[in-house]
Amino acid sequence: MSSDVSFRLATEEDALCIGALGTQVWLDTYATGGIRPSLAREVIKHFSLDGVASTLAKPDTALLLAERQDHLVAFAQLRYDAEHSVLPDRSAVELERLYVQEAFTGRGIGKRLLLEVETLVGPHGANTIWLNAWVGNRRALGFYTAQGYEDIGSDWYSFDGESHENRVFAKRLD
Ligand SMILES: CC(C)(COP(=O)(O)OP(=O)(O)OC[C@H]1O[C@@H](n2cnc3c(N)ncnc32)[C@H](O)[C@@H]1OP(=O)(O)O)[C@@H](O)C(=O)NCCC(=O)NCCS
Repeated sequence: MSSDVSFRLATEEDALCIGALGTQVWLDTYATGGIRPSLAREVIKHFSLDGVASTLAKPDTALLLAERQDHLVAFAQLRYDAEHSVLPDRSAVELERLYVQEAFTGRGIGKRLLLEVETLVGPHGANTIWLNAWVGNRRALGFYTAQGYEDIGSDWYSFDGESHENRVFAKRLD
């Protein structure tokens, strides 16, 4: 059950725990065949203390945390006014990350965190949320479809000379 989980916006003091959880979930999700230098560089770039601190300092970015018994168990990362070429709508928010620690998956925490995100962005005038999901991440593809997100096209994520296909999902907010 996720009833003992609470949600709040992150501050710069949360960077350490966000970096640790982000590293764990990113590697579990994307380094499915082990670690190679390109993956190691990418995960450290995003989730080192400096990497998370610079993300938190971006004026168009917000991180929403899910905590249980004073421990971080999941977080969402949003970017406001994030246009995408396959989206007709310009008042859009990108859900850049939705990361639940593996031990806490399947308990409704991802669903609740996503609902918190949708509630948070409404007052900012956003009418669409969109996101990229890697084609190899079958669980995420099923999850977003189950939450009412529509597959609206493909995109590519490139790092360190590699390109990986993503599906773009979007949901219009009422
Ligand atoms: C994908 C992820 C965010 C889902 O969060 P979660 O907490 O495990 O999911 P929940 O327990 O909240 O599931 C909510 C609903 O989605 C459904 N769902 C979950 N996985 C599903 C799947 N593979 N296929 C279809 N439905 C699925 C559940 O059945 C549940 O439906 P219900 O409310 O009708 O019972 C989480 O597994 C995660 O963080 N994974 C690793 C990181 C990742 O891949 N993030 C997304 C990157 S794009």
